[in-house]
Amino acid sequence: MPYGNHSATELNKSVTINTLRKLKGSGEKFVVVALYDAPMAAMAQKCGVEAVLVGDSLGMTVLGYQSTIPVTMDHMIYHVEAVARGNQKSLIIGDLPFMTYATPEDALRNAARLMQAGAQMVKLEGGAWLAETITMLAERGIPVCAHLGLTPQSVNKFGGFRVQGRDPANADKIHADAQTLANAGADLLVLECVPSALAKRITADIPIPTIGIGAGLDNDAQVLVINDILGLTEQPPKFSKNFLTEAGDIPGAMKKYVADVKSGQFPGPEHVFE
Ligand code: KIV
Repeated sequence: MPYGNHSATELNKSVTINTLRKLKGSGEKFVVVALYDAPMAAMAQKCGVEAVLVGDSLGMTVLGYQSTIPVTMDHMIYHVEAVARGNQKSLIIGDLPFMTYATPEDALRNAARLMQAGAQMVKLEGGAWLAETITMLAERGIPVCAHLGLTPQSVNKFGGFRVQGRDPANADKIHADAQTLANAGADLLVLECVPSALAKRITADIPIPTIGIGAGLDNDAQVLVINDILGLTEQPPKFSKNFLTEAGDIPGAMKKYVADVKSGQFPGPEHVFE
């Protein structure tokens, strides 16, 4: 389909955490894209993407590393600044990279740097051990997006990029962690590579919006990495989709992704883990 034939429209006012809470309440899905530079950030705003994530996935998608582990605060700050220059309307979430939030004090210092670079929320990966850190950030005015399931900074602990929460004990642990982190003050929760039934249960049971990636259709939002949307990934993950082939051009691909998330057409059955 050519650019312009999709229902997504430019954001006309700034998205805040209140906007996303209201969308969860109303049942309308919202859309997140992980991206890293000013032109793509500007396009996301034009295409109605409610939140952009400057993900530490940039270690792989931009910098050519094999994982997110080599990513530094300086990398993140450079890309958060670029994204903030390109987009004034979407909510900008910045990832705290590996080992920059190992203690609450580290988290506070590094989150402040990301916020000063232009992020409006920080994201960190991990379970209940982060509750104290999240409360400390929240009390000091820093919104937090938590991240459970396949948390790529722990790839060496998982022994590879593997679906999490397949066995009942692990599923219950992820569910309990989600509740703990929401109670601690997290504002959003990314659920990555978990069975769709688990993501559905968590989304129903916690008050904060969930953002799925490889977590089925029953989340409050979806996130995809821009490289996957544009078919740039050599071995794309099962949960991703190349929207460029169908749409024909880059803005069309982003608009089609937005429209398909909003209408519930993406993710399809072929993108989910049961
Ligand atoms: O780093 C990233 O881009 C992410 C998303 C894939 C959720 O964490």
